[in-house]
Amino acid sequence: MNSVQPDSSKDSELLLLSSAICLLCGVCGCPEKCRCHSESVDCSRQGLAEVPWGLPPQTLTLHLQDNQIHQLPAFAFRSVPRLVTLNLSNNSLSTLAPGAFHGLQHLQVLNLTQNSLHSLENRLFHPLRQLRELDLSWNNISHLPTSLGEPWENLTVFAVQQNQLQHLDRALLESMPHVRLLFLKDNLWKCNCHLLSLKLWLEKFIYKGGRTDGVICASPDTWKGENLLTIPHELYLPCPSPPLDLAPAQAQQPGSAHGAALRPPESGPTGELDHLECELKPRRRPANLRHAAATIVITGAVCGIVCLLMLVATIYGCTYAAITAQYPGRPLAQTDEPGKMGGKELLDSSPA
Ligand SMILES: *[C@@H]1O[C@H](CO)[C@@H](O)[C@H](O)[C@H]1NC(C)=O
Ligand SMILES: *[C@@H]1O[C@H](CO)[C@@H](O)[C@H](O)[C@H]1NC(C)=O
Ligand SMILES: *[C@@H]1O[C@H](CO)[C@@H](O)[C@H](O)[C@H]1NC(C)=O
Ligand SMILES: *[C@@H]1O[C@H](CO)[C@@H](O)[C@H](O)[C@H]1NC(C)=O
Repeated sequence: MNSVQPDSSKDSELLLLSSAICLLCGVCGCPEKCRCHSESVDCSRQGLAEVPWGLPPQTLTLHLQDNQIHQLPAFAFRSVPRLVTLNLSNNSLSTLAPGAFHGLQHLQVLNLTQNSLHSLENRLFHPLRQLRELDLSWNNISHLPTSLGEPWENLTVFAVQQNQLQHLDRALLESMPHVRLLFLKDNLWKCNCHLLSLKLWLEKFIYKGGRTDGVICASPDTWKGENLLTIPHELYLPCPSPPLDLAPAQAQQPGSAHGAALRPPESGPTGELDHLECELKPRRRPANLRHAAATIVITGAVCGIVCLLMLVATIYGCTYAAITAQYPGRPLAQTDEPGKMGGKELLDSSPA
């Protein structure tokens, strides 16, 4: 080994060679600042600035939490290909090289909480086919990739609490067909028409037994602090696009005054995204129409009941007036009862 000069152009070769030697000898001791117990290596709270060299290749669990690791180069974990659990919580990571997790095809749990990540590469998690739990909470992520390529068949826990997300693409969630736990709280969720597809997805998810800590709106002001799941569908209008399309649904909704508030201010830096998202609109229309129809039916029923009651009241009033005219001296209270009863019965037996 010593005979190979660490000429900078040969660094990568040297790296390859050293990991090959490690693999051959099987046991390579333990990095200086770590404690190794058979298949578990604990390097936490050591003030490390990068992933230590010379990790034993048989490592299954690697604790790197509570350090100051600020970057992960490509192939950062090449020397530990059997890794199942990787804990990078509470470090100083702001960027991850696209190939950072290359070679970790057995990884099941990845904890990246409490770092300073602000965006993630499309292909970053590609090699992690077996991933079960991905925790990205307590970062500054404002945008997640739309797609992760192939579906993550085994992912059951996905956490992005405490980030800067305004929007979450439905396609991303659909790439996790078996997710059961979703942590989404404490982001900057923008509850305009664009979040409707997330709402619909979450309703189905919960119906199928999934659990989530909720999406609390941060904007617009009308919905600040409200849970996305409790805002009625009717208050969402399709995202702005051809005005002809908007008109019918709008005219039929009694709540359209509120609905208008949900329409995005349409401007600003997210304009581009807004247009992209609006293509989802046609899928939403049937639900909207159904709601409009239900509203009409309910309104009709209520009007019918009110009309009937008014008719009863009129008849009653006339009878009463006639009786009073006939027997001017008698107390009025007695005749009051039957009339009221009649009204109630009518209300009870009317279709609800
Ligand atoms: C994060 O790590 C630092 C050491 O780098 C430690 O002092 C601090 O207590 C850790 N924070 C938490 C919440 O564990
Ligand atoms: C990772 O480290 C954090 C902080 O010490 C700890 O709470 C968590 O349980 C650890 N394990 C995993 C699998 O994330
Ligand atoms: C990741 O670590 C945090 C502590 O920093 C812990 O609360 C969380 O449960 C861990 N996530 C997973 C998936 O183990
Ligand atoms: C999911 O996990 C099972 C069992 O551990 C494994 O056989 C399968 O290959 C995994 N799926 C993917 C896509 O890796």
